Amino acid sequence: MTHLPLDLAVIGGSGLYQFPGLENATRQSVDTPYGPASGDVVVGDFAGHRIAFLARHGESHTLPPHRVNYRANLWALHDLGARRVVGVNAVGGIRHDMGPRTVVVPDQIIDYTHGRYTSFCDVEGAEVRHIDFSEPYTASLRVALMEAAKRAGIAVIDGGCYGATQGPRLETRAEIARMKRDGCDLVGMTGMPEAALARELELDYACLALVANFAAGCGDEAEISIEEIFAHLAAATAEVPPLLAELLK
Ligand code: HPA
Repeated sequence: MTHLPLDLAVIGGSGLYQFPGLENATRQSVDTPYGPASGDVVVGDFAGHRIAFLARHGESHTLPPHRVNYRANLWALHDLGARRVVGVNAVGGIRHDMGPRTVVVPDQIIDYTHGRYTSFCDVEGAEVRHIDFSEPYTASLRVALMEAAKRAGIAVIDGGCYGATQGPRLETRAEIARMKRDGCDLVGMTGMPEAALARELELDYACLALVANFAAGCGDEAEISIEEIFAHLAAATAEVPPLLAELLK
């Protein structure tokens, strides 16, 4: 299946299950060689452009991070003609200035996940391709996001290292302390292998990380409240459509 290029594809994370303001929307169920995507891809008009939206965890949040079919998701968006993808990811803040409701456009990744299909090469007979991943996010798309945020009057932190953990449980304080020593500024469960798979498909890819909580041991509270996570996420998620509307201008 080949389609006209979409202007943008958005992968929504926790708290973003439908894209608000999408007009003339149609649902596309894409067959992929890697099995089913997280759900239908919704294609529609937004800010005068054609965009695609896919809820990473499914529209009813039924897929935990380690069971998301990242390969099928990226393949489906590529197959529909997407050439640039913004992944929206809920994260915990490790760096002191990355508290709840902060929006960050990270520039580095450390991958602590395991047991996920991390490559399109992971199929018998497939050609083995080694991709450069020194800069895991597409610099031009990162810059475009930063500039769009500025125009939209949305405060966004430029850069930071995203530590990708397995989930679905949150981390221990010791794990976060180790990640901090490693140089991680943020922690989330879905940043990888999504970014690497996007690179394998030569898609432009960047991440909008929405901070839902201070990671374990980084805030004042002894425990992390899941209710608070979702309240902060709802607030940060509201920034996404106006920011992306500017990106499309
Ligand atoms: N850890 C991992 N993933 C997350 C967190 C966290 O503290 N908050 C939101 N997603």
